[in-house]
Amino acid sequence: MSKIKTFFALLVLSVFTLTLVGCGGGDGTKTKAKDEKIIIKFSHVVAESTPKGQAALKFKQLVEEKSGGKMEVQVFPSSQLCGDKEELEALQANNVQLIAPSVTKLVGFVPAFQLVDMPFLFASDQAAYNFYDGPFGQKLMRSLEPKGMLGLAWWPNGAKHFTNSKRPLKTPEDFKGLKFRTQSGGLLDAQFKALGAGSQTLAFAEVYQALQNGTVDGQENTFNNIDTQKYVEVQKYLTVSSHGRLDYVVLTNTKFWNSLTPEQQQLISDCMKEATAYERQLADELNNKSKEKIKASGKVEIYELTESDRAAFIKALEPVYKEYTDKIGKEYIDAARASK
Ligand code: LMR
Repeated sequence: MSKIKTFFALLVLSVFTLTLVGCGGGDGTKTKAKDEKIIIKFSHVVAESTPKGQAALKFKQLVEEKSGGKMEVQVFPSSQLCGDKEELEALQANNVQLIAPSVTKLVGFVPAFQLVDMPFLFASDQAAYNFYDGPFGQKLMRSLEPKGMLGLAWWPNGAKHFTNSKRPLKTPEDFKGLKFRTQSGGLLDAQFKALGAGSQTLAFAEVYQALQNGTVDGQENTFNNIDTQKYVEVQKYLTVSSHGRLDYVVLTNTKFWNSLTPEQQQLISDCMKEATAYERQLADELNNKSKEKIKASGKVEIYELTESDRAAFIKALEPVYKEYTDKIGKEYIDAARASK
């Protein structure tokens, strides 16, 4: 090969390599000299103004302060670095060291994570928090270790509600023939099927456009995600349904974790604990604020399910329990139901 050809071949190869590691680049543990600063890349898909976005920034501030600058946390919001699927791959490859996916996105690894999507399962936000902090939630959080991922905390967001562009959704029958975006297949597809609707899995970053161009008619999310993603610009109806939850697990990877000293691990755990308390306090506050903002915008027609509407949905969604109780594990469902 001539020199010029070799040069171009190398150029193409390096561009290709850069593209491959684009979702985070460099392995945080590989070439660390003894006193080199530890860089922790934290990638997530939502806006900075969300509970997850704010808590990630709080974690950054705490870690940098408490480590006296020996650790740096680089936060990448809004799928800037990685989208839904890529962030999981990037974490496993140690191209990023922290992510906080909605647990629905982890069902491909551990089906029990679909628990949060079980319709009308938890009695309240507090019941969900207590479940996550109790033995079943902790067991679930640790269940990813064989896949090289280590759960550090549960960051709940809150209840999901339906939006769509076609008609008010007051009864299960109103869903017939509509198509909804799901975060991940499986249980959520079954949920929409039980309501007579179709579904399509789309990455979070693709949802606004899919709603805008009619690829899907509707979606389900927390008030805060509906607000910060500006879905009201491309949706006409919102049903306050609280039919399921959207919650996160903060994950690191075992390779990165095991490269830290016990003191460094302790520092990260302590900061995570503080950031978690902050996230939980914010989740409620920001979802309420977003609900008021959505109302005040006048852009969507809002319907709140009554008790008897809820009963009709619970009945219509029974097939989901039939199909998924064993897949998730009855002991998890029972513990979630018993949680107060
Ligand atoms: C979604 O995909 O709707 C959510 O998981 C996004 C998020 O992380 O809150």
